Amino acid sequence: MTKEIPGLDLLDGYEIGVWSGDGPVPDEVLLEEVGSVRGLLCMLTDRIDSDLLDNAPNLRVVSQMAVGVDNIDLEACARAGVTVGHTPDVLTETVADSAWALLASIVRRLPEGEREVRAGDWGPWEVFHLAGGDLHRTTIGIVGMGRIGQAVARRAAGFDMEVIYASLRPVPGSDARRVGLEELLDRSDHVIICTRLDDSTRGLIGADELARMRRTAYLVNIARGPIVDTDALVSALRKGEIAGAGLDVTDPEPLPGDHPLLELDNCLVVPHIGSASVRTRTEMARLAIENLIAGLEGRNLPSRFPTGG
Ligand code: DGY
Repeated sequence: MTKEIPGLDLLDGYEIGVWSGDGPVPDEVLLEEVGSVRGLLCMLTDRIDSDLLDNAPNLRVVSQMAVGVDNIDLEACARAGVTVGHTPDVLTETVADSAWALLASIVRRLPEGEREVRAGDWGPWEVFHLAGGDLHRTTIGIVGMGRIGQAVARRAAGFDMEVIYASLRPVPGSDARRVGLEELLDRSDHVIICTRLDDSTRGLIGADELARMRRTAYLVNIARGPIVDTDALVSALRKGEIAGAGLDVTDPEPLPGDHPLLELDNCLVVPHIGSASVRTRTEMARLAIENLIAGLEGRNLPSRFPTGG
């Protein structure tokens, strides 16, 4: 059961329930409805925890339409014998495109310029009006060099950039240099967060890490909001400890309209749309449904979390 997604006709022959209300399925509805289901197709807004699993004695597969699975209690699923599927690969390039869109926008101050034009405040041309940073021939630091991090890194060649990265494991065959997080923060003109959210990365970028960054540096978070300490980021942006931030994800989500981040000119926030191209979302839906069907039929999932069948 989930919001209506493309490709549900692949489930012909199965009895399905679809949540078609506004917004995510309320927890209490999900808890009530899972009682009889064998498979669940869910979104990153659905909390799949032990309470839900206790209520779902027949559940065999949870298929998440996202690559990140931090909303799912994986240990509880393993204990309950529930297989978890997700949708990596199909979204990698689109999310990397989004990281670059955010970076270019905030570095070159496009949101400020656009707001000015729409407000009718476009004044005479001035030498340093809305002058920002540069992308070309700078150093980009990627935190988390998995599939998405590597796709971000590939695009840097076109801007003649030096690429450094911090990652648990080295990436074989990459021209980028692996460094520790501290060196990355010290040296990067742009820091891009591409790592997964788990206990080891929650709050990874806090006040100390932001203070280490250059005052001229930009931060982009395309991964998960809680990897960055929101209060520390507000403070660093206010004090000019970093030049700006582009955020596809925030903590909390959705971000309330009166949140302090939204009062800052040097911060661009978009509503978790990193993978939101029509083609990619369609592919994610297809893969999520294929994972679901495989789980229902007792076959290996095309994309099981963490990896493999
Ligand atoms: C994911 O897949 O985890 C993204 O955050 C949503 O596309």
